[in-house]
Order: sequence, then C-alpha cells, then structure tokens
Amino acid sequence: MRILLAGGAGYIGSHTALALLKAGHDVVIVDNYCNSSPEAVRRVEELAGRSVEVFEADVRNPSAVLKSMTDKPVDGVIHFAGLKAVGESVRMPLAYYRNNIDTTLTLLECMGQAGIKNIVFSSSATVYGEEAPVPYLESMPRGRCSNPYGWTKSMMEQILEDAALADHELSVVLLRYFNPVGAHESGRIGEDPLGTPNNLMPYISQVAVGRRDLLTVFGGDYPTPDGTCRRDYIHVMDLAEGHVKAVEYGAGRTGVDVFNLGAGVPYSVLQMIRAFEAASGVSVKYVIGDRRAGDLPEFWADAKKASRVLGWQTSRTLEDMCRDAWNWQKNNPMGYPKS
Ligand code: NAD
Ligand code: WQD
Repeated sequence: MRILLAGGAGYIGSHTALALLKAGHDVVIVDNYCNSSPEAVRRVEELAGRSVEVFEADVRNPSAVLKSMTDKPVDGVIHFAGLKAVGESVRMPLAYYRNNIDTTLTLLECMGQAGIKNIVFSSSATVYGEEAPVPYLESMPRGRCSNPYGWTKSMMEQILEDAALADHELSVVLLRYFNPVGAHESGRIGEDPLGTPNNLMPYISQVAVGRRDLLTVFGGDYPTPDGTCRRDYIHVMDLAEGHVKAVEYGAGRTGVDVFNLGAGVPYSVLQMIRAFEAASGVSVKYVIGDRRAGDLPEFWADAKKASRVLGWQTSRTLEDMCRDAWNWQKNNPMGYPKS
C-alpha cells in the first residue's frame, strides 16, 4: 500500500515510516517541520534503503494536501500532525485548537476529494479523562480532559466518528497511545524535543548525557506503591508496528475502531530512573519535587483488544526502552543536527 503520513517527520511518524517501509509499503510524508527535522526522514531512508516522498507543507493547506494525495494514488492516511505539549496548550489554547482541529478537517476533506477511505488517527490515553478507573478499556466513554491538548484529541475523535457516520465507506481507526518512549535500535532516529523536555524519558536522557543537571520527580506522595506516578510506557518501535497493523486492518473495512496501544503494565517514575541507570550505566541525579498540575496518580492500558483484533502486542521490554533511548541520546546528544 502507499501510505500518507501527515506529520510523518516527527518522533512517532518517523519510526512508523521506517516500520511501514520495512513491511513493504510505500510512504509519503507531509510535514511543515514545526516540531521536527528533515534529517529524521533522511535517516529513515538510510535505515530502510528506500526513499520516501516528502511534501514540505502545512497540513492545514488544502491544495498542498490534495496534491500529496493525488500525485500518485494513496491507499491510507495516518494522521500524526499535531501540537502535543500539554503545558503549552494551557498557555496557547487557540493555537492548539486551530492547528489540531484544522489539520484533521483538512485531511478529511481532501481524502473525500481524492476518494481515500482509510484513516488512522494518533489519539491518546488522555481522552479517558480524569475520573476513569484503571486499567483503561476501549469500551469506556471519553471523559473530562484536564487541558486543551487533551480536549483537541477528544474533539478530533468525535469529528472522525461523525465523518464515518456520514460516509459509510470510510474506515477510521483511533489509536490511543499510552506513553511512547525509546528509539529505533540503531540509535539513528529518536525523540528530539525542542527546548526543555516536557516528558519524563527525554528529560532523564538529557540529565544522563549532561545537558541538564537534575531531574525533578513531580510528586512523591501519590497513593502508589512508591509514592511516584505510574504510567504505561511503550517502546516507540512497538507503537510503530501497531500502526502498520492498524492501517492494513483499516483497508477494505468501514466504520470506527478504537484500540489502546500500550504494554498493559505500569511503572513508576522511580522505577523508570532505576531501569535507565541499569541500562545505561550512568547515574541520573534527581530530587523529589512538588506534584505537577493535572497529573493523574496512575493509569495503564487494557491492551487485549489490539492483540485479539489486530494481532499486535508489545515485544520490547523496559530494559529495551531504556537501552534504546540512551543509545539515541548518547550518539546524538543535541538531537538532530540543526541547520
Ligand atoms: P511530534 O511533534 O514529534 O510529531 C508531530 C509532527 O507533526 C511534527 O513533525 C510536526 O512538525 C508535524 N506538524 C504539526 N503540525 C503540523 C501542521 N499543521 N502541518 C504539518 N505538519 C505539522 O510528535 P509525536 O510525539 O511524534 O506525536 C505524533 C502524534 O501522536 C501527535 O498527534 C501527538 O499528539 C500524538 N500523541 C503523542 C504522544 C506522545 O507521548 N509522543 C502520546 C499520545 C499521542
Ligand atoms: C510521565 C510521568 C510525570 C517529567 C503526557 C501527556 C499525554 C501523552 C504523553 C502526548 C508523570 C513524571 C515527568 C519530569 C517527572 N501526550 N515526570 N518529571 O504526563 O503521563 O503524559 O505525555 O502527546 O497526553 O499528558 O507523560 O512523560 O510527561 O510524565 O516526574 O520532568 O513522569 O509527573 O508521572 P504523561 P510525561
């Protein structure tokens, strides 16, 4: 199949591009590099030994998107193109609603014009909201989100569901990611956050490599086994392979399907620090600080549906996640070369 990745130069998109190429699919990327680098795509091509077609464009630009969909026939779309920093979304809600909702509407409208009927969407465990019991199951309703980023995901799921209700030929697969971490085992592609990392694993890696002095653990008094929050961390290559299964599954189907993509096992912040130290052989200096507003004590996936229906499950361990995150960070201490 020929698959269009909107936002395909980013962290999850680049790893998914590689997994698709390795599975024998062709890849076309539309990205404006607002949070990524062309170097990521170049390295994907190098690792796959195959080329990727790239359209440098804003996914909110209908003529550019339509061109990327009609130059050569496209069989499916995976929609990664979004802004994703939770704290920034609280400060700049309109930018988040504008970018994330508009990219989704534009993709759906252009797909309609190009006759493409298969879309996979990067959703998030955050849509379960603040009050859902753990583990999260796909059959639970979407809940109240604690920030505009989360609301954009919830709203985009609703938009995609409504589009599928109106077009009986459309297939929509909503993938709710838990906490993606790690990097491709080569250490050539990985997560390269702009500025101070918001997420735990890149923060730990940057402390380990000496870019930052100290990790602050956000809260040590949660009602969890060691007092720190617990999350369901998933290796980004397992996640990437989940997308290959999802887009293949969506081809020739209709209607909406929802899948949790997580490992189904929670680890605490302190467990993550210890696992990273063991895998890297480097100590990570940390202090226990205040809780971060909006953090839930713990959540993890019930990941059985993806296993049953897609035939997908995680195969990489916590040690693999930490080893590969470190391999990427130590080989690319400042991330991708900046032009
Ligand atoms: P990322 O920022 O690395 O990738 C997003 C890509 O989209 C970037 O390459 C960026 O340049 C591009 N982009 C954004 N807006 C665009 C626009 N208007 N036009 C063209 N390109 C645009 O993020 P990621 O971690 O790879 O996440 C991919 C998707 O998965 C996002 O939608 C994110 O919300 C979602 N998600 C991520 C996580 C996570 O923890 N990383 C968890 C759940 C869901
Ligand atoms: C993990 C744990 C922090 C940084 C977020 C979004 C979610 C999804 C994934 C993406 C928490 C703790 C973190 C630090 C810390 N988003 N932590 N010190 O918050 O589970 O999920 O990213 O698109 O929607 O909400 O992930 O990596 O930020 O935090 O102690 O410097 O690490 O408190 O317990 P989170 P995270």
